[in-house]
Amino acid sequence: MNVVLLGSGNTATVLAKMIHAAGHTVLQVWSRDQLHAEELATQVHATGISSITDLNKEADLYIIAVTDKAIPELAAKLRLERKLIVHTAGSVSRDVLQTSSANYGVIYPLQSLRKSMTILPPVPFLVDGNTDDIAALLHDFALSLSDKVQLANDETRLQMHLAAVMVSNFTNHLYALTEDYCRDRSLDFALLHPLIIEVACRLTQGNAVDMQTGPARRGDEETIKKHLLLLEIDEHLHDLYKELSESIRKLYRKK
Ligand SMILES: NC(=O)c1ccc[n+]([C@@H]2O[C@H](COP(=O)([O-])OP(=O)(O)OC[C@H]3O[C@@H](n4cnc5c(N)ncnc54)[C@H](OP(=O)(O)O)[C@@H]3O)[C@@H](O)[C@H]2O)c1
Repeated sequence: MNVVLLGSGNTATVLAKMIHAAGHTVLQVWSRDQLHAEELATQVHATGISSITDLNKEADLYIIAVTDKAIPELAAKLRLERKLIVHTAGSVSRDVLQTSSANYGVIYPLQSLRKSMTILPPVPFLVDGNTDDIAALLHDFALSLSDKVQLANDETRLQMHLAAVMVSNFTNHLYALTEDYCRDRSLDFALLHPLIIEVACRLTQGNAVDMQTGPARRGDEETIKKHLLLLEIDEHLHDLYKELSESIRKLYRKK
């Protein structure tokens, strides 16, 4: 397929590389910043542009990968008649693209993407189209990039996006808070890396609920008290520890 990418951030960069590596052609990269457009375009042998009027009108697929709140504004500027256009957001309706073209959809990468990635992880895709034919076409395109592709409407995609925030952004936030906690006490956070990796990898072998360990799961109230005492000087972490311990207790009381 001949593809035009609109955006030059994390998602646009990773997608451009995946699309190029899969044997498709990235014709153009558009960004509101010409330098950003060119920086990405040169990596995938495309042309960088910063004016919508320079958009190549002959591409097979136009991918909007800009920040969520800029999607409607950008979509409103595009008039692509019957050309296929998608966005890449988890929580933005497919229908924001209905004024841009008669054929539109979504290709949502269910992965944490950063432009600095050198080795690309597996990227599952949730795809949607405004007709069954468009959904099937986008499904096939996504299958050329990944072996994990599912159809998902706005509601399912939003639900899955929320799930992604829980397992990715929230756990990472706990890592960030723990990094600070370790630094303040001159503890070596890197010693926790094998534990983090082991617990995450275990999930491929069973259910998270069956894998839970730790004081709250065991009902070890003495240890919890000692930990809370240690956190008395940090109200935020103290309350978070208490809340999460209570959530674990509650879950296993129900079982
Ligand atoms: N990163 C992820 O892990 C991930 C995963 C799945 C889906 N997504 C989705 O992918 C989309 C892009 O996210 P991202 O992570 O790639 O964001 P990002 O790295 O922050 O990049 C945002 C891009 O949007 C452009 N932009 C911002 N405001 C704009 C405006 N008013 N008009 C035009 N362009 C504007 C930026 O342009 P400049 O270069 O000029 O600043 C940049 O190219 C979002 O819809 C997001 O929900 C992201």
